[in-house]
Amino acid sequence: MPSRTDILARLRENDPARLEEFRKHADDVRRRNVGDDVHLRGLLEISNHCRRSCRYCGLRADNTDLTRYRMTKEEILAGAARAVQFGYGTVVLQSGEDPHITADGMAEVIRAIRSDERTSSLAITLSLGERSEDELAQWRDAGADRYLLRFETSNRRLYRKIHPPRSAEATDRMELLAVLRRLGYEVGTGVMVGIPGQTFDDLADDIETFARLQPDMIGLGPYLPHPETPLGREATTPGEEQPANDELTTRKMLALTRLACPKANIPSTTALATLNPADAYQTGLQWGANVIMPNVTPPNYRALYEIYPHKSDSQESAEEFHDTWIRRITATGRTIGIGRGDSPSYIRRTLMSTEVVQ
Ligand code: 5AD
Repeated sequence: MPSRTDILARLRENDPARLEEFRKHADDVRRRNVGDDVHLRGLLEISNHCRRSCRYCGLRADNTDLTRYRMTKEEILAGAARAVQFGYGTVVLQSGEDPHITADGMAEVIRAIRSDERTSSLAITLSLGERSEDELAQWRDAGADRYLLRFETSNRRLYRKIHPPRSAEATDRMELLAVLRRLGYEVGTGVMVGIPGQTFDDLADDIETFARLQPDMIGLGPYLPHPETPLGREATTPGEEQPANDELTTRKMLALTRLACPKANIPSTTALATLNPADAYQTGLQWGANVIMPNVTPPNYRALYEIYPHKSDSQESAEEFHDTWIRRITATGRTIGIGRGDSPSYIRRTLMSTEVVQ
């Protein structure tokens, strides 16, 4: 784990030779800890309804320009079956914080995926926003394996500014992450890089927070301004203290995350690829990432899941994405992960708790 001084120096590094050395180090730590396998997760965007008003996100409730959709149970099952056809071991069910996704309704969908012989072997990851402990427990009982909830930034003041609470009572994502872990989920979190008002110190805090939490999965991408959001309409310029929301800063964060959490599953994200559709996914894999999340959402819905504009995966069909990817991964000497691709840290934690129980 690099020291605070080291983290800050890496974040501000611009010398090409030293950057390449840094990249190789992170790549080496990745290879020794999670190997050359690249795990593929089929991403299914099941609803773009949202009750929240996060100041950066295109799905925010106040964005009246957006046509809203919610997939039916049958559509979700078909999506999960598509993930299996492509050979993916995981389906990720993602949505805005949609109040019409009820505890019972979602539990029924999870049980249906679990009991259908086509999809029963899939790992099920949920990414449905801030939900109550009871709901999270019910979904875990129904057969969900993993949950993704980014804390977005470890700067509390900045977090509150861009992320108004739903009611007077503020929810604490850190507490929810602890609840998820207690419920036995494999837990994922992450941050955005280059949020207006964020500092290099904040990014260093994010890395130290990852080191402390040791999440099983960590997703990070550049903040991308959306013109239909309050934050997207504010003009900001990166400066001495403000890190850029660019590819290089995101790569540095990926590499530092790998050094802080050697065994975590770290995706090369769509937000990163949106900055450079030609090869950013691939460079993410060379800077510490070991997971790709191909989008299996039907194209008519996918176009409406506009968290930020020009999402790199919004044009390609799932087939195109899949074919390009298999070629790119194998061309760089990496292998395709077979099976569920559970996180090594989660497996170790589960084994340890079983030993204690016995
Ligand atoms: N730019 C980049 N990432 C965003 N997210 C939401 N809005 C944006 C944006 N404008 C990210 C958040 C969220 C994840 C699903 O998408 O980090 O947790």
